[in-house]
Amino acid sequence: MPKVGIIVGSTRPGRNGEAVARWVHELATKRGDAEYRLLDLRDFDLRHLDEQTPAAAGVYQHEHTKRWSAAIAPLDAYVFVTPEYNHSIPGALKDAIDFLYNEWADKAAGFVSYGVDGGVRSVGHLRDILSTVQVATVQAYVALSVATDFENFTDFRPAPQHEERLNLMLDQLLAWGSALQSLRG
Ligand SMILES: Cc1cc2nc3c(=O)[nH]c(=O)nc-3n(C[C@H](O)[C@H](O)[C@H](O)COP(=O)(O)O)c2cc1C
Repeated sequence: MPKVGIIVGSTRPGRNGEAVARWVHELATKRGDAEYRLLDLRDFDLRHLDEQTPAAAGVYQHEHTKRWSAAIAPLDAYVFVTPEYNHSIPGALKDAIDFLYNEWADKAAGFVSYGVDGGVRSVGHLRDILSTVQVATVQAYVALSVATDFENFTDFRPAPQHEERLNLMLDQLLAWGSALQSLRG
């Protein structure tokens, strides 16, 4: 079974990201076609990048980096659940990406974004960032509106059509994730 990490990109108290990620995890798990793992940045206590050696060397000084590396390395693909903060991704997510290098490479990624306008600008930035660490990003993505997919901007009530879109994204993700397996050896 391929292993897919669902990465919760926001860490702030009261975040909407956790409910979105749990929804992704629940629907994805029902498919029965991969092992979907929820990876919450909060659980890794990463803070700002504090490694002295560049990540490409894979020489990590800190326990939090080693734990994060051990969580990302065995995965075949990623789903990034990200809000839009000031037209981009949260700083915590950018740091989490910067901590590693080879662990990310030659895998596929898909996106579930949310924000006032569906968080689509964060997805654009994330595609660009991930291309630098050699991640292939699939076309289909889920864009959720904090105005219409949440009640009072906080209670997650996704419109039914998002489920179909999520499944399309996961179809593309698993296809590319397995196609890239030959590069990963
Ligand atoms: C610092 C900050 C900046 C934000 N900037 C944007 C933005 O540029 N565009 C947008 O659509 N929503 C923006 N929002 C609204 C968030 O997308 C929305 O509050 C979302 O729920 C935040 O994700 P979280 O609850 O998981 O932290 C911003 C929210 C925060 C906290």
